[in-house]
Amino acid sequence: MNKETHVLDRPPEGAAADWTIPQDWAAYTAEEHATWDRLFARQAKLLPGRASSAYLKGLEALRLSESGIPNFEELSERLHKLTGWQVVAVPGLVPDAVFFDHMANRRFVAGNFIRRPDQLDYIQEPDVFHDVFGHVPMLADPVFADYLAAYGRGGMRALELGALKQLGRLYWYTVEFGLVEEAEGLRIYGSGIVSSSAESVFALDSDSPNRIRFDMQRVMRTEYRIDDFQQNYFVIPSFEALLRETVETDFAPLYAEILAQPDIPIAAILPEDDVITHGTQAYAEGKAAS
Ligand SMILES: [Fe+2]
Repeated sequence: MNKETHVLDRPPEGAAADWTIPQDWAAYTAEEHATWDRLFARQAKLLPGRASSAYLKGLEALRLSESGIPNFEELSERLHKLTGWQVVAVPGLVPDAVFFDHMANRRFVAGNFIRRPDQLDYIQEPDVFHDVFGHVPMLADPVFADYLAAYGRGGMRALELGALKQLGRLYWYTVEFGLVEEAEGLRIYGSGIVSSSAESVFALDSDSPNRIRFDMQRVMRTEYRIDDFQQNYFVIPSFEALLRETVETDFAPLYAEILAQPDIPIAAILPEDDVITHGTQAYAEGKAAS
C-alpha cells in the first residue's frame, strides 16, 4: 500500500470496523493467478544482484515462489512466526489513522485485487502484487519489521503534530522507493521498485536520477512524484541505521524545524548533500518535452 490518497471516511459495506475485508482467496480466477505468475517470473529473473539481500531472503523464507496469488492466511502464519507481522486485506485506500494503527500493531494492509493483464507495467492503485510481492518480503526481516512498526507509531504522532506530509515522504523514499548500500554495491528494497520491472533497472542503472545518501531531515523536505520513475533515490547505509535513527529521533522538534523551512524541489541537489550520483535528469526532461 502506498498512502498517497485515502478517499473514504468510513468502512465501506462488507468491511469490518477496522476496515479489513476477507481476502476471498477462493474467488480468484485462473487468469488472475496467471497474472501473478507472469509478474512473479519476470521479477524473479531480474532481482538477483539488484534487490537487497534482506528482500531476497524474505522472498525465500516466505516461500513466495509458489505459484498463484498467495493466500493471506497462510502467508500471515509464516510471516508471524518470523517477525510477528500479518497481512490483512482492505478495500483499496484507508484513512491515515487506520493505516497507522494497523501498522503499529504489525498488520500490513494489502489490496486483494490484481491488475488486469493489460496493466502489467503500470497501475494507479496498489494491487496485491505491489502490496505482497513488493512489501511483504521486507517484513520478514526483523530489523525492517521493527522499522515499519515504529513508522506506524510515528504516524499517529505525526497526525497530532500536523506533519503527515513530511512523514509520508519518509515512507515514500524508504519503504516505497529506497535503496541500500551493500558490500557489493547499491541494491533496491523499496516496494515500488522491486515490484516494477522497468524501475528495477532504472533505479540502479540509469544515469538520469540523483542518488543521494539518506538524511532524515532532507528526505522529509523533498517533494516526490507518483506518476513516473523517481528523480531521486535516497540510499541508506543499512536497515539497522535506518531503524536506529527512527527510534532515536525526537520528531516533535524535528518537525518544527522542517516545517519552518521550504520544501526541496524534486530534482534539486543541495550543497550539503552526500551525492552518489548527480543525475542528468534526462529521462524526466525528455518526458516533459514530449
Ligand atoms: Fe506500497
